Amino acid sequence: MEYDSYECDVLVIGAGGAGMRAALAAAENNSKVIILSKSVLGKAHTVMAEGGIAASMGNVDSKDDWKMHFKDTIIEGVYLGDWRMAEILAKEAPEAVYGLERIGAIFDRTEEGKIMQRAFGGHTYKRLCHVGDKTGLELIRSLEDKILHKDVTVFDELVITTLVNRSGKLSGAIGFQMRTGRFIAFSAKSTIIATGGLGRIYKITSNSWESTGDGIALALKAGAELRDMEMVQFHPTGMVWPLSMRGILVTEGVRGEGGMLYNSKNERFMLRYSPERKELDARDVVARAIYNEIQKGNGTEHGGVYLDITHKGKEFILKKLPGMYAQFKDFAGVDITKERMEVAPTVHYFMGGINTDPETCMTSIPGLYAAGECAGGLHGANRLGGNSLAEILIFGKRAGEHASETAKHSSSEKIGDDCIQREIKRVKSYLSDATDGENPFKLLERLRCTMDDKLGIIRNAKDMSDGIDIIRDIKLKASGTKVKGGMAFNHGLITCLALDNMAILAECMFLSALERKESRGAHTRNDYPKKDPKWKVNIMLSIKNGKISVSHIKVPKAPENLAIIIGEESYA
Ligand code: FUM
Repeated sequence: MEYDSYECDVLVIGAGGAGMRAALAAAENNSKVIILSKSVLGKAHTVMAEGGIAASMGNVDSKDDWKMHFKDTIIEGVYLGDWRMAEILAKEAPEAVYGLERIGAIFDRTEEGKIMQRAFGGHTYKRLCHVGDKTGLELIRSLEDKILHKDVTVFDELVITTLVNRSGKLSGAIGFQMRTGRFIAFSAKSTIIATGGLGRIYKITSNSWESTGDGIALALKAGAELRDMEMVQFHPTGMVWPLSMRGILVTEGVRGEGGMLYNSKNERFMLRYSPERKELDARDVVARAIYNEIQKGNGTEHGGVYLDITHKGKEFILKKLPGMYAQFKDFAGVDITKERMEVAPTVHYFMGGINTDPETCMTSIPGLYAAGECAGGLHGANRLGGNSLAEILIFGKRAGEHASETAKHSSSEKIGDDCIQREIKRVKSYLSDATDGENPFKLLERLRCTMDDKLGIIRNAKDMSDGIDIIRDIKLKASGTKVKGGMAFNHGLITCLALDNMAILAECMFLSALERKESRGAHTRNDYPKKDPKWKVNIMLSIKNGKISVSHIKVPKAPENLAIIIGEESYA
């Protein structure tokens, strides 16, 4: 046989925080679980959520409660977020953190021994439970440890190339193992996508090579609905120097612990942009402020602004921000206890993604679930830092539980040989010794430059229309890319497949962004600079008759008890 076949109750595609939490929940519910990782197990973008997990425990600010967390999430998402997802997040976050602690995460503590919480942008109270500046890493470490001790089958360095939906219900996925190039068909009663975001669609990003949006694109191609694809989060602070480190995250924890931003004229410019919240305003506000300062010519030598934490002293910095100290010392030769950091916005997160049901995480395709960054809805037009770590724990668990329950009442449909052979043929069609095919690396570079230039922090119709033409040309050419070599460890082949996914998602992003004729949260247009109540809608995308179709739905009204919490501009 040219391929291997496996069967399971629950297949989890993606092994970051959401995927591992889902796998654990399904295994604890006695399902037979397989989890797949595109990278080596434990290497996930989750680790780039460094500064903490948002949960209203009130350990430091006793006035905090779930209602305040809910309100902050909805208001900072500029009223586009799903109210039920925000309610679930706010109510369940403290228990999710305690659950993580029970499986081994060791959080920083207050003097009384409670879990320590720090300030973060857009959160009314000190709410971020943290492990220095390595919270995401601790989350992954704890979950991985637990998964390895459970009866969960792990495949790492494995690329999924298609989802199988033949009868209106998802029956699994097909892919190949990078090390050997061998194809594998995974027949599953339930499948969970937890593949994270698509930061690598941009040139300057905190994301590493895996974040190419595969799961979102495969779900779209299999018939699922996407939402809010125009909403891209630029984290205000990425490294700018040296060039090899451009875009790497500088945690918001630096500002949460008192770091201040200065331009090259030594002005603390956030006092002008946001006199009350200053450096701790929401990410879209701070990123736009930094962008403006750089555009006005107030940037630093390497095209950023300064972030200064030196006033806190060496002992404090080494205790609270050891990762940042090492990152700047080792890679930029900068001692952040004595010198300022140079920073600029970097693409960090996608608020949009696969549309799911808030209770169960099921997509519009029966048998297919999604959780984590690949799923849209919770964050609306702007995500609060720390909400994604809470999200992956809470919705990862829900996805695992519901997928596992569904599997108990479903029969498995084995993926047929014809279907597998077709997919093998399609993937292998990218391999050729001829030199006349399109070069995937060049197309990818063009795609990433187009995203940076035409769909950045500030947008307008002309740029976006030009961008969409370029992307459509790339998409067409992406279907004709060719690379030399065989199936095993062929980076060129993996690039061809990722490019195909990224091109379709780029088109979705441009279409959504062009459609939204207003400025809201992370979506800022200089031709429509104001927020417009008419656009309190979610933009939905799906494939109809082979084409991407765009529609709107009015943001659903929250029930009375939640509308009262939200206040003036509630859903009512
Ligand atoms: O800045 C940070 O540590 C990132 C956190 C997040 O994205 O949630």
